[in-house]
Amino acid sequence: MKIALASDHAGYELKKEIIIYLQSEGLENKDFGCYSKESVDYADFAEKAVRQVVSGKFDRAILICGTGIGMSLAANKFRGIRATLCCDAYMAEMSRKHNNSNCLTMGGRILPADEAVYIVEIWLNTEFEGERHQKRLDKISKIEEMNFKPVK
Ligand code: RB5
Repeated sequence: MKIALASDHAGYELKKEIIIYLQSEGLENKDFGCYSKESVDYADFAEKAVRQVVSGKFDRAILICGTGIGMSLAANKFRGIRATLCCDAYMAEMSRKHNNSNCLTMGGRILPADEAVYIVEIWLNTEFEGERHQKRLDKISKIEEMNFKPVK
């Protein structure tokens, strides 16, 4: 599985911890910025990583800002992206089982690194259950078809 990462300044330190974890697990990943704690705008970096998933070059994205909220708002503006803000392991598990999350967002000012790494571990290793949940996601896809232009 190929994972695209991005953060703003408020998520930068936690992102580095997540990258160390992914590397220790031998998971292919790429950091699409930012690359320092200098203040930046989260939407710019959400876009860089999420476009990699939309284009099929990467399988999933992990986005980190101060709360995870801004990153989820920005990521969910892209067709086909199911970005889920997860604050604990239960949310991470359900975001995969029920929502088929392909983009995890977290808050660097919310989560200690060990909890965030555990969230990532659960999110990466939990399968989507399909069935009635797929039917519900199909309804979201229909809304996207009505409201979103295809992404180039
Ligand atoms: C940056 O101060 C902060 O607003 C941002 O990281 C994020 O939490 C927004 O949702």
